[in-house]
Amino acid sequence: MKDIDPRELSADEWDELNYPRPETCDFDDVVEEAISRRGFMGGVLAFGSGAAAMGVGSLLSSTSAEAQAASRFAFTPIGIATDSTIHVPDGYSWAPVVRWGDPLTTGGSGFDPTSGHDAETALHVFGENTDGMWLYSIDGHEVIAVNHEYANRKTNLPASEGVPQSAEDVLMLQRIQGVTIMEVSPKDGGGYEVVVDSPFNRRIDHNTEMRFAGPAAGHELLKTEADPEGMKPLGTMNNCGSGPTPWGTYLTCEENFNGYFGSTNPEAELPEDYGRYGIGIDGWGYDYHRFDPRFDVSKNPAEPRRHGWVTEIDPSDPNSTPVKRTGLGRFKHENAAVAIAPDGRVVVYMGDDERGEYLYKFLSNGVYSPGGPTDHLLDDGQLFVAKFHADGTGEWLALTPEATGMDAAEILIFTRMAASAVGGTTMDRPEWVQVNPIAAEGYASLTNNKNRGVKPNAGGDDTSVNGPNPREANNFGQIVRWFPANDDHATSAFRWDLFVMAGNPVKAEGAYKGSSNIHEGNMFNSPDGMMFDTAGLVWIQTDGDDSNEGEFEGMGNNQMLAGDPVTGQIERFLTGPNGSEVTGLCWSADRKTMFVGIQHPGGSFPDGEGLPRSTVVAVWRDDGGLVG
Ligand code: FEO
Ligand code: CA
Ligand code: CA
Repeated sequence: MKDIDPRELSADEWDELNYPRPETCDFDDVVEEAISRRGFMGGVLAFGSGAAAMGVGSLLSSTSAEAQAASRFAFTPIGIATDSTIHVPDGYSWAPVVRWGDPLTTGGSGFDPTSGHDAETALHVFGENTDGMWLYSIDGHEVIAVNHEYANRKTNLPASEGVPQSAEDVLMLQRIQGVTIMEVSPKDGGGYEVVVDSPFNRRIDHNTEMRFAGPAAGHELLKTEADPEGMKPLGTMNNCGSGPTPWGTYLTCEENFNGYFGSTNPEAELPEDYGRYGIGIDGWGYDYHRFDPRFDVSKNPAEPRRHGWVTEIDPSDPNSTPVKRTGLGRFKHENAAVAIAPDGRVVVYMGDDERGEYLYKFLSNGVYSPGGPTDHLLDDGQLFVAKFHADGTGEWLALTPEATGMDAAEILIFTRMAASAVGGTTMDRPEWVQVNPIAAEGYASLTNNKNRGVKPNAGGDDTSVNGPNPREANNFGQIVRWFPANDDHATSAFRWDLFVMAGNPVKAEGAYKGSSNIHEGNMFNSPDGMMFDTAGLVWIQTDGDDSNEGEFEGMGNNQMLAGDPVTGQIERFLTGPNGSEVTGLCWSADRKTMFVGIQHPGGSFPDGEGLPRSTVVAVWRDDGGLVG
């Protein structure tokens, strides 16, 4: 790692370097299976292997013209872009709502366009790298909760090329990540702005006091010197996707938490569980451990286990204590999608974003009733991992002590190991999961997996091609969906198919051309963010290769598309600036404005000069119509 600057690497690349996977797959077997599967798919390239096996290909094989005739999209699809701004369809407009460094309170006006801000100012501004978000209507106020996933160190600390030089530098980084709660209000002529100094405005960062709840709270493995009861963790970190609950709270999800930890003692012996979660000596270039002993695993070996959870926040109460819900398991949480089963039990679908990790489901024991108690719904229940069969069926396998050989708390703290123990299906990097609000079906973005069929996952589990992950060295990604038996998300049995396999029908061959609903006019790679609108259209956001070269030619910048679950039609709605990822989507209370997140833009977006600033933008129809 010595010649490599970790700040230049994605979390995915850094994990691979930090814990290189042994190449123990039998290469001949893998190739043979891939070839036979590709041959199988060759005849039904109309749609993926799962759909073909289920005989549902015809449902989604309508031609582009037929689909267009029945289109439910209220926009004319746009082409790709390779420039440094945002494009939306004719008849739509966009404008920034809030950028990294914009004040939330009057103390936050110290942003400098070339050097950023100091640690004190960081307490009062919109954080960096916007990601998952949701808008809450609270007593007539519109309040957005939004994640700040990570920090672009070279952007935040330009004077030292991204290398923290002091505890002050580290504190500044810690304060621009986490979560923002902010009130917004409409502007005359379109768009929204932050209500500076609203009593709802709040920053939650890497040092905010929290509490643990659920079966693992207070467990020996979570105790530290500073918190001998194992009940009061500090901070939520690497907040990637998110999800609203029906009771008005916000679930923020801790993804690549491992990157914040390192050791000042290079000889430190690391606990065995660190390997599966990618926790190492060096850290991902944050250097927290050099200036903040909490992140030094040679001094605080239990601290990393206090992260990697789903944290619940009440955006209506700025004084509330965020709660880490241990019942939802510990892994690299992408987001959380909540559904209510017909009998009132709460279902939470979740993905673990690393190559060859798993999809999970939590099912509560208690039932939700509007206005009823909700504080323990996510603490008391059963966690499951998804098992997909090649014939288009699947099941949720319960992670119980009997099935895993682990006790109840260990299953939650070391969820990845529990999933491996029961033989869940290794997936191509599960990003966002969502539930269709008007049909009993779940969706998961499987963003890409260059190791599929090449190397096992971090636990050594088999990652040969399988039903919902049918392409080896998968650089394009796909979206799998499942249909629970009896239209009941509480049941363990389901059918599944592939809603789309991204690909390049112009430049690529075989299965890499993508499914039949991919055409020259809607190509994309690496589906990631995903959200349903109230009409049941699924909005797909991408975080992939935006070089527009080679097999990615014709895809352009990262983008947002809309998909129709019924027809399979997918069309492009928005393109982001070059270098950026489009992630995070929610709507105003009147559904006339859509809020879209632009993360890690290149150039000087959105100002045209100075540092690039991740930004939440508003998008609206010029005729004032609904956008969701
Ligand atoms: Fe933070 Fe998996 O995206
Ligand atoms: Ca993501
Ligand atoms: Ca991603």
